[in-house]
Amino acid sequence: MDQKKNEQIQKFGGAWTVIKIDILKQYLDAYTTALKSQPFNLVYIDAFAGCGKYTTKNDQQDMPLLAIKKDTDIEVREGSARAALNITNPFHKYHFIDLAESNFEQLNSLKAEYSSISSRISIHREDANEAVLRICKETNWYDYRGVLFLDPFDLEVEWKTIETVAQTKGIDMWFLFPIMAVNRLLTRKELPPEEWQKKLDKVFGATDWRTSLYSKIQARQTSIYSLLPEDITVKDTDIEGIKEYTASRLRTVFTKVSPSARILRNKTNSPLFVLFFAVSTESDRGKEVAMRIANYILKNT
Ligand SMILES: C[S@@+](CC[C@H](N)C(=O)[O-])C[C@H]1O[C@@H](n2cnc3c(N)ncnc32)[C@H](O)[C@@H]1O
Repeated sequence: MDQKKNEQIQKFGGAWTVIKIDILKQYLDAYTTALKSQPFNLVYIDAFAGCGKYTTKNDQQDMPLLAIKKDTDIEVREGSARAALNITNPFHKYHFIDLAESNFEQLNSLKAEYSSISSRISIHREDANEAVLRICKETNWYDYRGVLFLDPFDLEVEWKTIETVAQTKGIDMWFLFPIMAVNRLLTRKELPPEEWQKKLDKVFGATDWRTSLYSKIQARQTSIYSLLPEDITVKDTDIEGIKEYTASRLRTVFTKVSPSARILRNKTNSPLFVLFFAVSTESDRGKEVAMRIANYILKNT
């Protein structure tokens, strides 16, 4: 692929970025193959689609499946949108959503590049929450089944979006949950400031994180005037605890949530994201097949 001078390729990620796209692509391939003979139209919704590719420093394990071009110190790789277009059995419909103008333009070029299926591709320059709500409402889930990929940088995904997705009963969701960003908002020695609490309410769609992730303890006497020890609220969780709490929230709306959610770490081993997989179908067979494929990929990638 030519790297045009004025083209802005997204620069982000590290080894975890390669892993997430690898997992997603394997699932999309398996999904469209498994449902090939089923009487459904298949839709892929990429709510934070980026521009179709990204660069990483060339210092990670070799992944020839995903590498597009090698340079001396950077690699240009398939982003989620391109990965979804490069699978063996394409979807009947693609929705690529991104707010950034340069990404919108590059997604339109990507659409032109895939001319044989370009009529199946819709590009939306829109907030992901608004676009996903609209697409969920406009799609006839009696005829359609689909996969949604939520791949935000930060805390952009709102709980009402997750709830609406689950209500379709037709979507399998991959959600890259920004656990480091959430952990930062969960202050240690007291509940977070009001503004952060509101943000966490929107992310979790619940208020009980205040009691699930925090405990009341008796503080030591803080001054000579305080006769009785006071109760103070302190953070009582870690990354595993936040991951489990988030999974429990997802289980309230999805019919099945993978127990193999994967923590993705940076070079220094700090946890950045958790890749969750959840299905909304009520069909036992559908749940079982989707979970078997997703769990296998999550454990073996
Ligand atoms: C992590 S990147 C996505 C990477 C992409 N999935 C890939 O694999 O190449 C996050 C993207 O979300 C976009 N974005 C940020 N906030 C958004 C919002 N509220 N709605 C839609 N897109 C948003 C950014 O422009 C950025 O391209």
